[in-house]
Amino acid sequence: MSEIVVYGHTGVVGGQLYKWLQERGVDVAGVSLDRTDGDIEGVRWAFLCLPTPTRDSGAQDIGAFWTVRWQEWAQRSVRIVIRSTVLPGTCGFIASHNLTVYHWPEFLSARTAWQDFITPRTRFVGCDMTESSMAAWRGEIEPLLPVAVEATRFMDTATSETIKYAHNVHGAMQIIYANQMYDVCKASGADWPAVSDAMPQLGYVSYRQRGAYWDIFKDAQRGYAGACFPKDVGALRAWLQCQGKPSELLDGMEAANARLRGRA
Ligand SMILES: NC(=O)c1ccc[n+]([C@@H]2O[C@H](COP(=O)([O-])OP(=O)(O)OC[C@H]3O[C@@H](n4cnc5c(N)ncnc54)[C@H](O)[C@@H]3O)[C@@H](O)[C@H]2O)c1
Repeated sequence: MSEIVVYGHTGVVGGQLYKWLQERGVDVAGVSLDRTDGDIEGVRWAFLCLPTPTRDSGAQDIGAFWTVRWQEWAQRSVRIVIRSTVLPGTCGFIASHNLTVYHWPEFLSARTAWQDFITPRTRFVGCDMTESSMAAWRGEIEPLLPVAVEATRFMDTATSETIKYAHNVHGAMQIIYANQMYDVCKASGADWPAVSDAMPQLGYVSYRQRGAYWDIFKDAQRGYAGACFPKDVGALRAWLQCQGKPSELLDGMEAANARLRGRA
């Protein structure tokens, strides 16, 4: 009987965790749409690495979450770790149903997923911040995971949820900004490589950011794409609008990206 189950263990995020735990001899079960491995009846920890697509309306679709065993887990005090990117308030809402919920967002890139997973800088872990929740994580989960450069930071789940969006929206924003400056160079006759080199030399933009976000013709297309940036910018924008908050920056990013990707 496995102690841990990973939902989404054949996906990008769940696949790395599942592989890591298996390679370390942990008795881990996996549940995905295409396959179930192991016995999940007596699990004590459930890691949810499920998809959270953004609908055309901008609403986040967390339908996959409703297919798991919430009721049974609440009765058996199973600890739930959400690894998916979810809008602020989602984990708090789930926890309000008598569940112990952690949010441990993932920051890997699909192309370098395994390498990113095994070399974490730090872990941000949202939870209810009680001593027992933090002790359970430190004692039962932390020793199973790759060693991080910095110690795990515990916080409330609204904060861990927001950190994930802050990271992804910032990446998308840098891509739009770099594209804008590239167009300035084309219009002014300025030397784009010299301009883009100057930014990290000045120190306000890191070399890592320039490498990740300033490659204007990455994959022979401009703007941001991939599994995360478009869906996360769209979901956060719609969420802000639902909160009655302005979203001009995200509105502009979406408009610019649609034009750059040839959809405007
Ligand atoms: N792909 C990335 O680079 C990346 C990086 C960081 C965070 N994330 C986030 O992690 C989450 C998962 O993304 P992913 O890229 O791993 O998705 P994915 O599409 O690669 O994998 C999803 C997994 O969930 C399974 N699944 C779907 N519905 C299910 C259900 N109802 N019951 C059981 N299993 C089900 C699928 O079979 C698959 O194994 C998303 O919230 C995403 O935003 C993704």
